[in-house]
Amino acid sequence: MSLADCVYALCNNDICILPTETVYGLACSAFSVEAIKKVYDLKGRPSTNPLIVHTIDHESGGDISFTNEYSKQLADVFWPGPLTFILPKKESVPDQITAGLGTVAIRSPSHPVFRKVLDQVSLPIAAPSANPSNKLSPTKCQDAIAAFGKNCPPFLDGGQCDIGIESTVLDLTSPSPSILRLGPITKEAIENALGIQVQYHGNILNKPKKINSYQSPGQALKHYSPNTPLFLYSTLEQMLQSNEIKENDVVILPTSKLVIQLPVKSCSELYLSLTGDPKEITKNLFQTLNEADKLKRKRIHAALYQSDHGILSAVNDRLRRAATERF
Ligand code: TXA
Ligand code: MG
Repeated sequence: MSLADCVYALCNNDICILPTETVYGLACSAFSVEAIKKVYDLKGRPSTNPLIVHTIDHESGGDISFTNEYSKQLADVFWPGPLTFILPKKESVPDQITAGLGTVAIRSPSHPVFRKVLDQVSLPIAAPSANPSNKLSPTKCQDAIAAFGKNCPPFLDGGQCDIGIESTVLDLTSPSPSILRLGPITKEAIENALGIQVQYHGNILNKPKKINSYQSPGQALKHYSPNTPLFLYSTLEQMLQSNEIKENDVVILPTSKLVIQLPVKSCSELYLSLTGDPKEITKNLFQTLNEADKLKRKRIHAALYQSDHGILSAVNDRLRRAATERF
């Protein structure tokens, strides 16, 4: 579709797939209850899981939410970019966007195509990741198209997403900000920008009682999963010595620089990066899981990163959620 067709669709209760710098989004006007329903139906998303609304800047975020000093300071540093704020919502926001919560998630994307659309529609645009609920997020337009098959809505192809995992979600509704979803903007970076400590109650897989479904409804245990079972190991060494790896399985490795000996010769090896650079690993994570899935083998094997700091903690978080067999 052309940019003009996309603008027309969004202004007329319709939906389309748009690129962002994180992952592709399934977009609709945040004010169109009809279009919001189409998004939930196509994704098969439970109505209890609210959507992120994209705005051109912090000021227009103020049209739909009660922004505050924290959101202003952070937007000055990180917007446009992969940081989402949870803020009290204004009345104009339909309950269907927020799953009936009194808060709304807002972020300003940096992808030039999404920004052009925002500029031309002059509307806040809701966009969850463009994948069926609980499946892998698409970082290439082709992956979103394939995931929706014959029901795929019109799309704008903006190339491979630069960042490759979804935005950090930060709750700013209380005096002590807390991270609800780990992402590209790290806890340390947020703390540096605000000059205060920020809470993160740990991975819900390890500490299920700390984050509940009310605080961040989308942070369900199983998420971002390939169709093929993913076996996850706590270290690379553990993976390479595992006798769970069988003939024809897929093994995901951090970098093609590694000289390793797989326990079974007939496995397919996929690499997350050429250099081992954390940004490159992050960018290729969902893409590689998607490729591994397309090979339609019995099992995929991957290892967690030892350094649970910075962006790799978000990569580990996504790997844990994607693992259906073990972690
Ligand atoms: O990078 C991203 O954030 C991508 C791109 C397309 O912008 N979007 C994305 O949306 O990942 P989605 O719907 O897949 O994830 C939104 C997350 C969910 O975990 C949801 O529960 C949470 O944000 N969320 C949305 N509104 C919320 C609210 N009012 N309170 C708490 N969590 C909220
Ligand atoms: Mg998603």
